[in-house]
Amino acid sequence: MRILVLHGPNLNLLGSRETAVYGSTTLAEIDATLMDRAQQAGAQIESFQSNHEGALVDRVQAARSEGCDFILINPAACTHTSVALRDAMAAVAIPFVEVHLSNVYRREAFRRQSYFSDLAEGVIVGLGPAGYRLALEFALEQFGQGPRA
Ligand code: DQA
Repeated sequence: MRILVLHGPNLNLLGSRETAVYGSTTLAEIDATLMDRAQQAGAQIESFQSNHEGALVDRVQAARSEGCDFILINPAACTHTSVALRDAMAAVAIPFVEVHLSNVYRREAFRRQSYFSDLAEGVIVGLGPAGYRLALEFALEQFGQGPRA
């Protein structure tokens, strides 16, 4: 099983960025936890972060030819703005879970609009880094590699 983890704009700053909202865990720490768990389950996992919408679109397009089975995506600000990234996700038709560290429903009104949620298998918001871990467990279960496998 091949899993791609996609992180959108500004998530490279996790750990120092608005820590009251996003916590103090760095992106490298989040990725390392996911790598460990995926490796333990025998799944291949790769992480990609970009501050550029086009780079994220290119990465999603490449995922199809690479035979990627599942995507975990935190589109960050692109959640609320990017028809281009949404179209890429729709085009490759790889099942995905949308993750947000913060509870976007408790914040500004514009954060309640997502271009991804209706395409997603599911959405996890407000659980911090645990959201990524739970999304990964779901992905592994889908392919018979979860704890009950
Ligand atoms: C975010 C929420 C978005 O509204 C914001 O633009 C982000 C991070 C989150 O993980 O809580 O950059 O996706």
